[in-house]
Amino acid sequence: MRTTFSMDQLELDLSYGIEFGGIRLFDSSATRDKKNVARRRWAILANALKKSTDETSVRRISSFALLSTRQLTAPQYDKAQVSKRTWFEYSLKVNGRAYSLHVAHRDRAFSAEDLMGFNNTGNVCIWPSEEALSYYACSNLNLFDSRRVLELGGGLSCLAGLYIAKYGNPKGVLVTDGNKTSIENVRVILQHNEFVCPTDCAVLKWGEPPSHAHEQYDIIISADCLFFDEARADFVNCLNAYLARDGLALVMAPQRGSTLNNFIRQSEATGLLCDKIVNYNQAIWDKRAALMENRDYVDDVHYPILIQVTKA
Ligand SMILES: C[S@@+](CC[C@H](N)C(=O)[O-])C[C@H]1O[C@@H](n2cnc3c(N)ncnc32)[C@H](O)[C@@H]1O
Repeated sequence: MRTTFSMDQLELDLSYGIEFGGIRLFDSSATRDKKNVARRRWAILANALKKSTDETSVRRISSFALLSTRQLTAPQYDKAQVSKRTWFEYSLKVNGRAYSLHVAHRDRAFSAEDLMGFNNTGNVCIWPSEEALSYYACSNLNLFDSRRVLELGGGLSCLAGLYIAKYGNPKGVLVTDGNKTSIENVRVILQHNEFVCPTDCAVLKWGEPPSHAHEQYDIIISADCLFFDEARADFVNCLNAYLARDGLALVMAPQRGSTLNNFIRQSEATGLLCDKIVNYNQAIWDKRAALMENRDYVDDVHYPILIQVTKA
């Protein structure tokens, strides 16, 4: 089986030869002319976003097979009633206990504004790092007891933050992303789930300085947000601004070439302490071992690594 589409590879390493829809997209011997690459990248992204969301999302989500999905058909999830969205139950099982959330996928084709506007990687699918972070969170719910929790770059579902809000015992949860389409989707999801604590969502762009009296958080979580070279410094500054002095950030992301190490280097340059943990959960480690057999699996771009970040 071939890799059909991999945004992470597109974004990061154009030397991969990826087959998509029978077309060879990037050839290591081909010219690296930036304009052509950008044009093709936009075409691929447009194509992916136009595909039915369950096709793209569910297929990718199954990559670590920690989450299972079931389409919801009850009347309250009728498309016409809930803003042209298809609904799924996302479930994961940790030590025999089931955790589930109702999650909406937008059915609408994406507009030109969507495609040309703010970073859209969070609207393409739920990425394996979010899946792994959700699993890790549900395996360690005590971490969030009475804590103020913030998710950065949570994408179309902010899944990990919402699992914490439903099954942990946090003081409150704010899930965020810089993309307003993602956050519109999350707002609808919030209305169709019950949470144990005050839970809200907001557009939060890492490069926009927080207001003078902004709140700080005991735990910040984030999945797959380290590969944007141009935004990484903003992301690090954002962690510094929002993390409480004795707080902990759980940052999950694949190695992806030098990007994860660049994050560590840039964070440490600002005084943050980073602890890189490759084997942080036995079930995820076992999934990785099984995936190693699959020739489409590229550990460097697919395996989510956990970085625990604290203030010195
Ligand atoms: C690869 S996606 C990951 C989404 C989600 N965490 C997941 O793993 O499914 C990266 C996310 O970072 C967000 N993002 C990128 N640059 C950003 C910025 N400067 N400020 C806020 N969010 C940003 C994107 O909107 C996107 O949702």
